[in-house]
Amino acid sequence: MLKSFLAHHIDRAKRGELSCIKNCHVYGLWSVMLHDEPGNRIRLFYADTRHHLYKNARALDRMSLGYHAHHSDIRLIGVHGFVKNVETPLELDPNGELRRYRYSSKILTGESCLKELGGRYKDTLTIERILGVNDIFMPADRCHTIIVPRNEDASWIVIEGKQDPSYVSECYTDNTTWNSDNLYINCDSKVAFNVLNAAFIGNEKDAYR
Ligand SMILES: [Fe+2]
Repeated sequence: MLKSFLAHHIDRAKRGELSCIKNCHVYGLWSVMLHDEPGNRIRLFYADTRHHLYKNARALDRMSLGYHAHHSDIRLIGVHGFVKNVETPLELDPNGELRRYRYSSKILTGESCLKELGGRYKDTLTIERILGVNDIFMPADRCHTIIVPRNEDASWIVIEGKQDPSYVSECYTDNTTWNSDNLYINCDSKVAFNVLNAAFIGNEKDAYR
């Protein structure tokens, strides 16, 4: 089922019907919009081997993708490689390492920035789940981040569901120097085709370079 679904979209990319975003939110992360319908959007994400998603384990690094909620319920399905979804409630704590930011997306507003809102937070009661063929459901207000091991590639699908009208774009991160330089680069269908192939078979080769 997933196989034929992806094969269908690879054909669409071959026909020039898809585009993709390079360094989407995070360096080395690609996103391809497969189905664009409010209440039922489907995106494919592919982390190439140069990605920075490993930093969200916070072993030695500052987060590349802060904890964030979504404007809709989402379902996550693993396609290839090891992808860990980390969900957590955030708690105010004067000793917490996380700061809260309002996020403006370059995709929506032409400019991407974080504005600090004040307060210190910590993640608590963290739930970690590995993505696989069975989808993981998250309500819109659930905060999460994604971890992919360093130097490994991986891909997954995100399906957006019912929209939450009260959504405000915010994130919680320990990275105070985040900026959007070199992020959100629009690429054509030819690149989307290569990214989908890499995401599908897990073989980067010179797919998108
Ligand atoms: Fe997310």
